[in-house]
Order: sequence, then C-alpha cells, then structure tokens
Amino acid sequence: MSDEFVLDPGLCHLNHAAVGPWPRRAVAAVTCFAEENARLGSLGYLDWLGVEQRLRERLAELIGAERASDIALAKNTSEALSVIAHGLPWTPGDNIVGIAQEFPSNRVVWESLADQGVTWRALDLDRSRDPEADLIALCDDSTRMIAVSWVQYASGLRLDLERLGAWCRANAVLLCVDAIQGLGALPFDLRRFQADFVVADGHKWMLGPEGLALLYVRPEWRERLRLRQFGWHMVEHSGDFDRTDWTPASDARRFECGSPNLLGTHALEASLSLLAEIGMDEVWNRLQARTDHLIGLIDERGFELLTPRAPERRAGIVTFRVPGESAARLYPLLMARRVLCAQRGGGLRFSPHFYTEFETLERAMRLLDDILSESTDSL
Ligand SMILES: Cc1ncc(COP(=O)(O)O)c(C=O)c1O
Repeated sequence: MSDEFVLDPGLCHLNHAAVGPWPRRAVAAVTCFAEENARLGSLGYLDWLGVEQRLRERLAELIGAERASDIALAKNTSEALSVIAHGLPWTPGDNIVGIAQEFPSNRVVWESLADQGVTWRALDLDRSRDPEADLIALCDDSTRMIAVSWVQYASGLRLDLERLGAWCRANAVLLCVDAIQGLGALPFDLRRFQADFVVADGHKWMLGPEGLALLYVRPEWRERLRLRQFGWHMVEHSGDFDRTDWTPASDARRFECGSPNLLGTHALEASLSLLAEIGMDEVWNRLQARTDHLIGLIDERGFELLTPRAPERRAGIVTFRVPGESAARLYPLLMARRVLCAQRGGGLRFSPHFYTEFETLERAMRLLDDILSESTDSL
C-alpha cells in the first residue's frame, strides 16, 4: 500500500488535517483525464459522467446514505454550509447551537444569519467536561439546529454524534455536521448518527483535491431548503436545453447549479477507491495505531497533550504543547526541517494517516528534540 504514496523521503507529512497528499492512483486518474482531454476533447464526456456517478456512490457509501442521488457535489465545505444556512426557512428569534472554538466556516456561516433575527449560541469547549450534554443544555424552545464539526480542527476532539443525533431527532432539532476532519479517517454512519446535513471537502482525510465537497441533505429536508443558486444543471430535465419550463431536480443535483468539476471528480473518485479497497474499519485501525504511538512519544518526553486522551474522543489529530515553549516559535523550525504540521489551538498539530510510517512519527519527534536541545545549547 505504501507504494500508493510517493512522498519525498525527507518529508514528515503530518498534516492530513490541513491538506492531504494524493495517492498515485489519483495522480494517474488526473493525468489520464488531462491527456484524454488534450487528444479527444470531450468525446468521452458520458464516461466522465460515469466517474461522477461512481464518486456519488462512494460518498454515499462512506457516510452510509441510502442513495447516491442523495449526494450533491459542492465547491467546498463552506459553500455547502452556506447552502444549508441560507436555504433553511428561519423565523426571527430562532437560535443555532454550536461550539466557540470551531473552524471559522462553522461560526461565520451561522453568524451571517443575524440579519434574519437568528442567533448563534456557542459552547466554550474549554469549560466543558461533557460536550454533548452541554450542547444540549444550551438548547431551548427556540433552538432549531445544533451545528458542529464531528472532529474539532484544533484540539482533535471527536464528538459523540450518536448521542447528539438521538437527542436532536427526539426533540425536533436539526443536526448539521461538518465531517471534514473525520471522513476518510474513521467510519461514519448516518444511520447511527441521524444527521440531517453532512458536509466535507475531499482534500484532507479523503486524500483528494481541494475544491470538491460532499453535501448531504436528508431527503425530508431537500425540498424545504430554498435554493439560492440557479442554472442549467440543477433543473429536472437538465439535458433538454429547448425546454423553457423547469422545476428543480428532485434529487440532490438541485444544489448543483452549473458545470461539474470533472477534473476534481476524477481525482477524488480515485482516492476514495483506495479507502474503499482497504475498508474504513481497517483505515481507522491503522490510523489509531499511529496516533497511539505518537501519544506515547509525546508522553515519553513529558509534553502536554491537548487532544483528549480517551480513544473514543479522538480521531486522527494529535495536538500537543511543549512546556515552557511557544508553538509559534517551534512551528517554523519544524517546517524548516520538513516536518509538515500545523500550529493550532495553542499547540503543534500532528495529523498522520493510515499509511504513515511509524518511523516518520519517530523522526519528527527526534527533529523536535534537536530543535529543543539547540535552543538550550544557545542559552
Ligand atoms: C472543521 C473544518 N471545516 C471546514 C474546513 C475547510 O473548509 P472549506 O472546505 O470550505 O475550505 C476546515 C479546514 O481546515 C475545517 O477544519
């Protein structure tokens, strides 16, 4: 499997929570697509649409949706969230419950509803010992939705979606899940999680390109979302250009107004075929073994783990702090040594994937040791 990844041996790629690398098969799919395009133009357009259909099937499988036609393809997570936020019929006084420490897209989009009289209430995760209970406690009779990331981008905390989903369904509160920090890293199951909306771009744990995202809208809600974008592609009879009467497509295509991103489609479909071949349970087993190993290396050194320690609270993100050191100082020094990571949530965020060599984790930590000993030497 490691021959699917041709990362430079001098690089420690620990940044899947930002932008993942492509497996070889995604590179091959894009190369073939480009060459075919150059030689034959769009002669094979129907085949390209076949790849798009396979992509919808793979995404449906990945989240446990019933039908491929429930999956819309959006530009990115933020666009998908905006389709939901600005499509739902709000009433002034409604509120949405979320998390204060969220990635900006999960705050800004809900705050943008303020001019419709909708407020966003945020739980401070740093003060919460039981996030699901505290999110639920923030809800009142005017709460229409809980909107959260499955996995927090900075701390890596994973929410118990089954618990949230069961409460939301029983209390007629919608559940909107930004799954970008988990999908492709560990199994997701719509049947258990009961989310009404699921969104995720493909460029992180799904190992695809930027600019192509999953938008799942529970079928019961599809027609109740007001559409804000229109064009030839989102109508029921999209191939019949002579027809002047139109209705929005009855399936999730109604959220896709114009020409599809077929270049990205070829790449993401190929990347997801790799995850499907391995199986998400196995991907998760292997990733967990790597994050456990990483936590062991962090503990050995007496660093402070910022990611929750409990396995059921974690996904692929491991964020930690070196006592007495600022992440802002260490981060560029690590990057200069080609440890590709991120500075998030007051610490250093390392995010390996299922194929990352254990040696890569060890080397990254040794490079951090070197940086720390160089700084003590120069005192
Ligand atoms: C939780 C979360 N949501 C969304 C995004 C990215 O959004 P988009 O796909 O709109 O670029 C990120 C990127 O870091 C993220 O961590």
